[in-house]
Amino acid sequence: MRAHMTVNRSILEHIHIIRGDITKEISTAIVNAANPSLLGGGGVDGAIHRAAGPGLLEECRSLGGCKPGEARLTGGYNLKARYVIHTPGPVYSNGKHGEPETLKRSYWNSLIIAQEKSMSSISFPAISTGVYGYPKEDACRIAINTVCEFMEQRNFHLDVRFVLFDEENHVLYNNYLRNISAHHRSNE
Ligand code: APR
Repeated sequence: MRAHMTVNRSILEHIHIIRGDITKEISTAIVNAANPSLLGGGGVDGAIHRAAGPGLLEECRSLGGCKPGEARLTGGYNLKARYVIHTPGPVYSNGKHGEPETLKRSYWNSLIIAQEKSMSSISFPAISTGVYGYPKEDACRIAINTVCEFMEQRNFHLDVRFVLFDEENHVLYNNYLRNISAHHRSNE
């Protein structure tokens, strides 16, 4: 994938690509690829609710749902992470129904909450790339570009960990980040 942006080194040093299970993360917050009801589901949503325990669902019930692209904060309960940030990504149809913008907003609004809480680290899954069917390569680019843009624009740096459960996403994220880093070095 071609890098679409040059990113400064200090931002790149805050981005980490991990293969694994997000429920094991010890970041200040882990991000849940939720659905608008916030009442749990399968995939990473199911894994997070199973690991956090019933207290998480109880708090989610009090939130009254969340629109795609919006983000809501809850406690982490039995998780190692102190918080969970819930954000429904877009259901992908053909990329012409605002899906890219909604996916970007899911990452951006999660980071706004992290900044408001002065979090030192956050772990993201590959939002919308499972049940919601978002093409993994496009979603990977939106995820990494949005995080870099946010840190650049808001002058707020935190450790951002992309936790990929499947090998396909893991390879895509590593390749894209390597492209951006190489692009950056060539600009030095
Ligand atoms: N840790 C990290 N990532 C995970 C985990 C896990 N334990 N389990 C699954 N994933 C990955 C999937 O491999 C996929 O790459 O999370 C990514 C997002 O997939 P989904 O969980 O299916 O989420 P999404 O595509 O955003 O669909 C959301 O699915 O589970 C329901 O309630 C949820 O309705 C909502 C929809």
